[in-house]
Amino acid sequence: MSHDKITFNLDGEALEVVAGTTLLDACRSKGAQVPTLCHEDRLEPFGGCRMCLVELDGAPRPVPACKTNVASGMVVRSGSDSLERVRGTIAEMFMAEHRPATGGRPNAMDKVAKRFNLGAPPIQFPERAQYHDRNRFIGFDTDACILCNRCVRYCDEVMQVTALEHSGQGPNAIVQPTDGLSFLDTSCELCGGCISSCPTGALYEKQSQGVEESSCDTTRTVCTFCGVGCVIDLNTKDGKVVKVTAEQGVGPNDGHLCTKGRFAWQFIHHDDRLSEPLVRGEDGELHAATWEEAYARVAEGLTKVKQEHGADSIGFLASSRCTNEDVYVLQKLARSVIGTNNVHSCAAT
Ligand code: FES
Repeated sequence: MSHDKITFNLDGEALEVVAGTTLLDACRSKGAQVPTLCHEDRLEPFGGCRMCLVELDGAPRPVPACKTNVASGMVVRSGSDSLERVRGTIAEMFMAEHRPATGGRPNAMDKVAKRFNLGAPPIQFPERAQYHDRNRFIGFDTDACILCNRCVRYCDEVMQVTALEHSGQGPNAIVQPTDGLSFLDTSCELCGGCISSCPTGALYEKQSQGVEESSCDTTRTVCTFCGVGCVIDLNTKDGKVVKVTAEQGVGPNDGHLCTKGRFAWQFIHHDDRLSEPLVRGEDGELHAATWEEAYARVAEGLTKVKQEHGADSIGFLASSRCTNEDVYVLQKLARSVIGTNNVHSCAAT
């Protein structure tokens, strides 16, 4: 991308931007409140919903700001009354094919309705057939879908698995797992990225259904499932984790998560989770022990194996859930104490 600067006029003011900047980004950089629905910063510009229309001198009709690049000398208006009327009418059409999701999920249509002072839409499309999928994680409320295709494009552009499709036309148009199959029978990896991309809560996390997201406390932390270090937000209610989300634009993951990072949080409060060391007794059963007793048993076992079979009969494997410091100490133990170079961390993959 060229870094040449170009100048254009936005709402009466001269503005300089890098060539290739979209009108949407230019408007945002100036604080202009251009509404969007189908646009997602992580995806290629789509231009499907037309909520982001802006007026351009010399153009016969408003153009979508998300899909139009700034050109030198352009004269753009981002918020005239007539533009707001057009956007409001478009929003009303979206309301006609949308029924708000229940269960406390964030819904961008609420914001849109508020901005344009919309009540109940003058017409309402017939209800769509509800979609019940046997997968454990991703739920789909078809009536809340506005066919913005963000989930379809996310699955295609980001995950590159194309497990979702837009099918049918007019009132029969729907988004569904490819060929109308279960998510489990498509190439879906159950990453839940489609949920993070959905603006209306149509796609949702089954195990957090009913959790009012806005009433949760969030604690920012780092996922410990592998060595990538994805930044996550633990959503908690009454001191218990009820959901994991990730913010776009933050950390190495930019809001993306894998299926473990997004959905596998129940272990945190699980009854079977170990909370103290266990050592096998003479009776062959595991018994609660102190850390000193547990370390003594490990040392005893390793020493015995080393004496009987040599240091290289022992190998150390570090989980990628360990910190760098943990892994450093483990290789020290392997090399300096046991005397073997058989040490590996799966974070090295
Ligand atoms: S946000 Fe620009 S067309 Fe949808």
